[in-house]
Amino acid sequence: MLLLGIETSCDDTATAVVDEGVRVLSNVSTNQDEFHAKYGGIVPEIASRRHAALLSAAVDDALTRAGVTLDQLDGIAVTAGPGLIGSLVVGVAAAKALAFATGLPLYAVNHLHGHLFAAFLERAQPPEYPFLALLVSGGHSQLVEVASPTALRVIGKTRDDAAGEAFDKTARLLGLPFPGGPALEALARDGNPKMFAFPRHRPDPGTLDMSFSGIKTSVRYFLETDAGKRARREDVAASFQAAVVDVLIDRVARAVDRAEYRALVLSGGVAANGALQSAFVALGERRGIPTFIPERRFCTDNAAMIAAAAERRAGVCRVDPITLVADPNLRFN
Ligand code: KG4
Ligand code: ZN
Repeated sequence: MLLLGIETSCDDTATAVVDEGVRVLSNVSTNQDEFHAKYGGIVPEIASRRHAALLSAAVDDALTRAGVTLDQLDGIAVTAGPGLIGSLVVGVAAAKALAFATGLPLYAVNHLHGHLFAAFLERAQPPEYPFLALLVSGGHSQLVEVASPTALRVIGKTRDDAAGEAFDKTARLLGLPFPGGPALEALARDGNPKMFAFPRHRPDPGTLDMSFSGIKTSVRYFLETDAGKRARREDVAASFQAAVVDVLIDRVARAVDRAEYRALVLSGGVAANGALQSAFVALGERRGIPTFIPERRFCTDNAAMIAAAAERRAGVCRVDPITLVADPNLRFN
């Protein structure tokens, strides 16, 4: 199918045209960072107003860049949740209006499913089922077993902060600008990851759950000590990043010990992190399981991944444009 994707669940106004859930004909994303940076985080009201101002042009832009017109499309895919309600409503309203006016089928996609199927974009050889996905973003950190496009099961999740949230909060402690993840990674490049041993907290050995708020808190307490005040920020950043990566990789290794997977997928905004990518690939090599990491532009929020998920889950996510409602707490299954 030739699908138009629309994603406005958080602060990226994103549209894309994707063919067969693989070939990305256009991928437009307008980042709102400059509007949120001075507040040190995303301001929901600003995010929804920016989406409302930008989305119509972003839809035109995606179609123009792809060289297609609305009547050539086979459907419209939109993120229905989870996310910020005001942001979601803008994308959902636009998708409903477009579907209603054109008569095109409308597909409502769970944002997290989008991150999982990002691994199929622009790949000649996609991951085989069943695969294990480590989904790490600003709002979520979870391990998902994907037996087929419609059989997805969360087998482990964070008990507190998401990994991206821990990066963002620790970046703020280090005086780095928003968004913190990429800034912290850049700082960590010049640091020694073994300089400080921040605790790797692993909730109950019996589960695959994870925890990150303890690492962030120990960085905060450390920075208040005399040694912390004297420490190189590069070393603190590198040591924090190493602790988060260790926890994540330990969880994946345990999951791989418990069941047979034909592929390992790393996705979500934090999947753009180079240290995590290297550790993930190394784990796959040690266990003889192929690893799949989306291109950087498909790791962070984008609309191509929403079309990729709709393509594979069309049977279960087709909705009536009149009754679709954005759901900020949309459940994973
Ligand atoms: O998937 P995403 O774009 O939005 C959500 O659905 O949350 O993820 C955004 C998160 C932010 O917390 C951001 O700091 C983090 O991903 N992130 C990174 C990197 N790039 C983005 N974290 C660590 N290293 C990076 N290079
Ligand atoms: Zn996301």
